[in-house]
Amino acid sequence: MGRSSTLLFFLIIFILLLLHANANNISTDEAALLALKSHISNNIIATNWSSSVPVCSWIGITCSSRHHRVTALDISSMQLHGTIPPSIGNLSFLSSLDISNNTFHGDLPVELARLQRLKLIDVSDNNFTGPIPSFLSLLPNLHSLILLRNQFSGEIPSSLSNLTKLQELVLDRNFLEGEIPREIDDLRYLTILDLQFNHLSGYIP
Ligand SMILES: *[C@@H]1O[C@H](CO)[C@@H](O)[C@H](O)[C@H]1NC(C)=O
Ligand SMILES: *[C@@H]1O[C@H](CO)[C@@H](O)[C@H](O)[C@H]1NC(C)=O
Ligand SMILES: *[C@@H]1O[C@H](CO)[C@@H](O)[C@H](O)[C@H]1NC(C)=O
Ligand SMILES: *[C@@H]1O[C@H](CO)[C@@H](O)[C@H](O)[C@H]1NC(C)=O
Ligand SMILES: *[C@@H]1O[C@H](CO)[C@@H](O)[C@H](O)[C@H]1NC(C)=O
Ligand SMILES: *[C@@H]1O[C@H](CO)[C@@H](O)[C@H](O)[C@H]1NC(C)=O
Repeated sequence: MGRSSTLLFFLIIFILLLLHANANNISTDEAALLALKSHISNNIIATNWSSSVPVCSWIGITCSSRHHRVTALDISSMQLHGTIPPSIGNLSFLSSLDISNNTFHGDLPVELARLQRLKLIDVSDNNFTGPIPSFLSLLPNLHSLILLRNQFSGEIPSSLSNLTKLQELVLDRNFLEGEIPREIDDLRYLTILDLQFNHLSGYIP
């Protein structure tokens, strides 16, 4: 390739990258949050999360100044009743998800596994049911996983030992059963492990 065609080549790559970056923006986050709002029954969010004001000023929302994307969703203790829809997986810059102390029910959607920046998940004091999803083990940056006081059942997935940055694993007051996976021993940064009030047995790491 000649010099100018090399330049042209890189220019095209650059433009493609720009277009790709623009494919997701704060409008993607807004659509995802409006979908979440539609799964929650009447509450403060119904009036506060309005398209007529910027997403970043909505209650419970924090945005990064750098990318102007939603980085934290904290809708704890707002008496919210509903479910978490798959669109949550479109909040691609989310690093903190706190929906604790509401009455959310159902399952955690598998789309959560797309949120590779997530560091904190706190769904404590809700009414989630079903097993602890093993897809949570696909979140490499997770340092706090707090599922306290729900109705999670079944065994603790041994794949959680893949969460090498995990510092806090709080699972007490659910309906978990079976053996505590030995693999939890591999979590070298774990400082808080709370498993009380379940039906677990076996070896304590
Ligand atoms: C987000 O991107 C879409 C195209 O993908 C564009 O139509 C829209 O105006 C953008 N929104 C913002 C707030 O930049
Ligand atoms: C989430 O993203 C998917 C694909 O990236 C898109 O098809 C879907 O419409 C989005 N959902 C919302 C609620 O924005
Ligand atoms: C939404 O809540 C925030 C934080 O409490 C508040 O500053 C803002 O004025 C509210 N917006 C609307 C439209 O109610
Ligand atoms: C839970 O939320 C209720 C309001 O819905 C509030 O009164 C209570 O203090 C909250 N509890 C905690 C532990 O935050
Ligand atoms: C939580 O779920 C249980 C059983 O599914 C149900 O009896 C209870 O009413 C639910 N609580 C709330 C606050 O939704
Ligand atoms: C755990 O990580 C290993 C390699 O690091 C990978 O092969 C495996 O698929 C992961 N398992 C789960 C359930 O995420």
